[in-house]
Amino acid sequence: MSIEEWHYQDGQLFCEDAELTRIAYSHGTPTYVYSKSRVIRNFRAYAGALKGLPHRILYSVKANSSLGILDLLAREGAGFDIVSGGELYRVLAAGGDPSKIVFAGVGKTVAEIRFALEKGIHSFNCESEAEVGLISRAALALNRTASIAIRVNPDVDAATHPYISTGLRMHKFGVDIAVAAELYHRAAQMPGILAEGVSCHIGSQMLKIEPLLEAADRVLALVAQLRSQGYPIRHLDVGGGLGVAYEPDERGPAIQSFIERLKPRLAGLDLTLMLEPGRSVVADAGILLTRVLLLKQNGAKRFVVVDAAMNDLIRPVLYDAYHEITPVQEPSGKSSLVDVVGPICESGDFFARDRELSEVKAGDLLAIRTAGAYGFSLSSNYNSRPRPCELLVDGKDVYLLRHRETYEDLVRGELLP
Ligand code: LLP
Repeated sequence: MSIEEWHYQDGQLFCEDAELTRIAYSHGTPTYVYSKSRVIRNFRAYAGALKGLPHRILYSVKANSSLGILDLLAREGAGFDIVSGGELYRVLAAGGDPSKIVFAGVGKTVAEIRFALEKGIHSFNCESEAEVGLISRAALALNRTASIAIRVNPDVDAATHPYISTGLRMHKFGVDIAVAAELYHRAAQMPGILAEGVSCHIGSQMLKIEPLLEAADRVLALVAQLRSQGYPIRHLDVGGGLGVAYEPDERGPAIQSFIERLKPRLAGLDLTLMLEPGRSVVADAGILLTRVLLLKQNGAKRFVVVDAAMNDLIRPVLYDAYHEITPVQEPSGKSSLVDVVGPICESGDFFARDRELSEVKAGDLLAIRTAGAYGFSLSSNYNSRPRPCELLVDGKDVYLLRHRETYEDLVRGELLP
């Protein structure tokens, strides 16, 4: 199989050795298609580069929480970064090891904290003194000790979209790094709490690694300070955030070079490095396969109306995100400027605006690229649209990870008064 999992062969787009036209024929559209080999390759880029350093790779479940993807990563030895009881349930259902789970998030409920303690997760990343108090009480009630890290806010600008930037003082996340030491002091006095980690996460889709390295330097200085004050800090979690190339001329930072820059900073520190990558593991492993319903023209504007919509992939309208759109039939050369839109009753229901796209006709298939992260996991049933099915391609084999929803699924759990 080609190292490039998405490629044309005899004029047809393939995922690994599976032809997307055939996939659409047997499973319908819209459909999420993931390449197993690409997920594994991305994960192993982290694992390989981290060899020789005590570490744990905590795949960030929110990026793509399908059981089939979690299962794949659990088999690769991944740990998991979760943000809800639901994500914990998913990881356990997929066979994930609870002792490799870190629970993050600014607002955990008591029920979620108890669930996590009962399952024996590795640790909590805490974002406030109030939260540490809740965990302390829950741990006492269950007669457990909870390992925690304080998520500090290193005040580094991630230089990414404002909705996915998290590391500045103005954001709701974390504890100001300048006052974090005080919180470690108070946590040390709370029963049932063992504060043995420091964590941070400054944002997502970062195309430059410098902000990540600067944040790491700032939290490493805090680790040194805390250790000198006698706190037993054993792990450092630098979060996720490595970006990927969405646009043809964009280049995501190479996972290996990021790790190579990080490694010397940790040499000899006897500190376990934790990373929480999400997007960089799954984004380029997935596409949203969709069929052209019809073409229409309004004045000078040309629209390609497809059967996928913003409920299936909301990134374009939510973050002004660019996703490449590739015809499944290899383009012949002629192209024109179009908007690619879905059937939903919102002007925000688009995948591309004023995009140069090779000429397509009703019935043609399109691949909306780099949709493996924050695609299905952000999908909804808006406009009462059943959500797509999800498939995993392994060589020429195609596995159904999730059935396409039915109309019955849409009303499941609803009652008449
Ligand atoms: N750790 C924490 C604490 C996070 O908040 C996130 C993402 C990650 C790790 C994983 O970050 P990644 O490696 O995927 O960049 N829906 C948005 C992205 C939201 C990211 C939220 N936090 C999008 O579609 O671009």
